[in-house]
Amino acid sequence: MVQSNLDPLAEQVESENELEGSDGADSIASSSGIALEPIHENGRRYCNEMYFMPNDEPEQTRLSIVHQAFLILLDGELTTVPLPPEGPSRVLDVGTGPGDWAVEMGQRYPNAEIIATDISIFDGGPAIIGLPSVHFQLDDAEDDWTYHAPFDFIHFRGLSGAFRDWRGVYEQAFKHLKPGGYIEVVESDPAADIVTWANSNPDSYHNIYVSAMRNAADSLGYPRGRDHLNRSLLTSIGFVDVGVQDMNVPVGAWPQDDRQRTLGKMVLIACLESLEARSLRPLTATGHWKVDDVRDLCEKVKQELMTSEGLTMSVRFVTAQRPENT
Ligand SMILES: C[S@@+](CC[C@H](N)C(=O)[O-])C[C@H]1O[C@@H](n2cnc3c(N)ncnc32)[C@H](O)[C@@H]1O
Repeated sequence: MVQSNLDPLAEQVESENELEGSDGADSIASSSGIALEPIHENGRRYCNEMYFMPNDEPEQTRLSIVHQAFLILLDGELTTVPLPPEGPSRVLDVGTGPGDWAVEMGQRYPNAEIIATDISIFDGGPAIIGLPSVHFQLDDAEDDWTYHAPFDFIHFRGLSGAFRDWRGVYEQAFKHLKPGGYIEVVESDPAADIVTWANSNPDSYHNIYVSAMRNAADSLGYPRGRDHLNRSLLTSIGFVDVGVQDMNVPVGAWPQDDRQRTLGKMVLIACLESLEARSLRPLTATGHWKVDDVRDLCEKVKQELMTSEGLTMSVRFVTAQRPENT
């Protein structure tokens, strides 16, 4: 049974599911990654046996901070994709998490229908605002997509390590875009080689952490890294106008500029908070790491992050269009 504090979203999901079989159905055929009963492990709460990140309150808070940091980075915009001037009419946010992005999209474009999907139930997130145009659904993006109408825009943010088969997910996204519609894939996972040091030290604890996480993810069959951000992968599926943009983000309070310093502080907090969240489950699942060893490594990386001068992180934005004539 779903915990009572998860009920608001669960009810929404149920009312969405009632539509199944009608023309209004917006769902995915099966739901292999979805487990309604959360799993408690080493003091964290997870949505199923497989997905590596927790969905508990500290993680929801972290994701909200990250969302605010993205708003600063993008000067208040929600995406780098050129949306239609009249606004999009249908948008899909895959792996929406607590739904900050989807809800804000719904507030900015009240005429758009926003479908926000996840394998996880997030209680107490912005979903409880209950915007009529924003529909939260429990869907595993690796299952067959059966959405009833195509989208102008499909958004993926922070999903490194979520899928076994990115190609399969992209192929479905291509099929479910309107001709001329866009996808955007945004990644800031440190295991995807994106934290850079002013004075790079190959023996740093951070490097040990990153390579341990990458090896663990590979052995579990959910690759991290940057392979899913390659232009050639998207063009081989049929996407055109593929744009790859790296934005440098400060990590820490070192920038002189006020706005950059605010951003740097938020990113540092999110990074520190993410160390254990990202690594605890995959590293212990390998059988080579004990919980205390993971926590000890995280503590050492934390010290490095807090004492490093001029630390930056690169965030990659990949955008791609379904051709107009398809
Ligand atoms: C790091 S969070 C990012 C959340 C949100 N996109 C954001 O930017 O705040 C990744 C999310 O992907 C979801 N997820 C993982 N595997 C998924 C799958 N197979 N299908 C749909 N969502 C998935 C997780 O439950 C989690 O909420």
